[in-house]
Amino acid sequence: MPTVPIAGRKLFYREAGSGLPVLLFHGFPFTSESYWPQLDAPPRGCRLIAVDHRGFGLSERGPGVSTMEELATDGAALLDALKLPSAVIGGVSMGGYVSLAFAKKFPNRTKALLLLDTQASADDEAGRARREASAKDAEAHGMAPIAEAMMPRLFGPEAPAQAKERIEAMMRANDPQGTAAASRGMGAREDTLDVLRKFPGHVLVLVGEKDVITPVEKAKAMAEACPGATLEVVEGAGHLAHLEKPERVNKALGEFLAKVK
Ligand code: MLT
Repeated sequence: MPTVPIAGRKLFYREAGSGLPVLLFHGFPFTSESYWPQLDAPPRGCRLIAVDHRGFGLSERGPGVSTMEELATDGAALLDALKLPSAVIGGVSMGGYVSLAFAKKFPNRTKALLLLDTQASADDEAGRARREASAKDAEAHGMAPIAEAMMPRLFGPEAPAQAKERIEAMMRANDPQGTAAASRGMGAREDTLDVLRKFPGHVLVLVGEKDVITPVEKAKAMAEACPGATLEVVEGAGHLAHLEKPERVNKALGEFLAKVK
């Protein structure tokens, strides 16, 4: 199992393919395993590196709140450990929040951005209160209430049953404390639309047509902020388009990454 020590903690990652490095941050509350259709068929000429955020999967928990900046900094430390000066940076949903925090903090290490079913806006007050309530729920009752609340909102109507089962099992197996720390971290995140306005590289914004968590309007706002961005709307897919329509998403990733090289 590949792990690297980051500030005395183990950070786990998985890899597939070789060539252009592509660092993938996963969504909430999943693990790097949630990229299985991409890791099983990496885009030609690309090295996918998917990390378990601190407190998720096989990565050890950090102290206090897991802010998006800290998760991004863990990613930069992983690139250091792998001796990679830069990479394409990307992620689904919370992974997109971390990617934008990475681009803000490490602009020279961000070759291009993959923003999948995500948004650049921060939470409003009600949203922050919901993050705190879910953090407390996870601490008091474990992962079951989080999984039960999320499952009905994650997928579009055509999602394969196998993808749903695998994601539900992944959520239920996660550490409630690590999950609570990331929930609070998402609540504390900043608006990053300005990062996109200034980003000079290629950007792919991809969204499931039926995503109810980070809907198409959020994707359009990101694409509009960044005139060179490519916007892909995946018909029939919900919030986890990369698992619901993997062939379609892998094709979009392959075409986009071919332009980056
Ligand atoms: C995710 O999929 O990472 C979360 O749904 C993101 C969020 O709750 O904002």
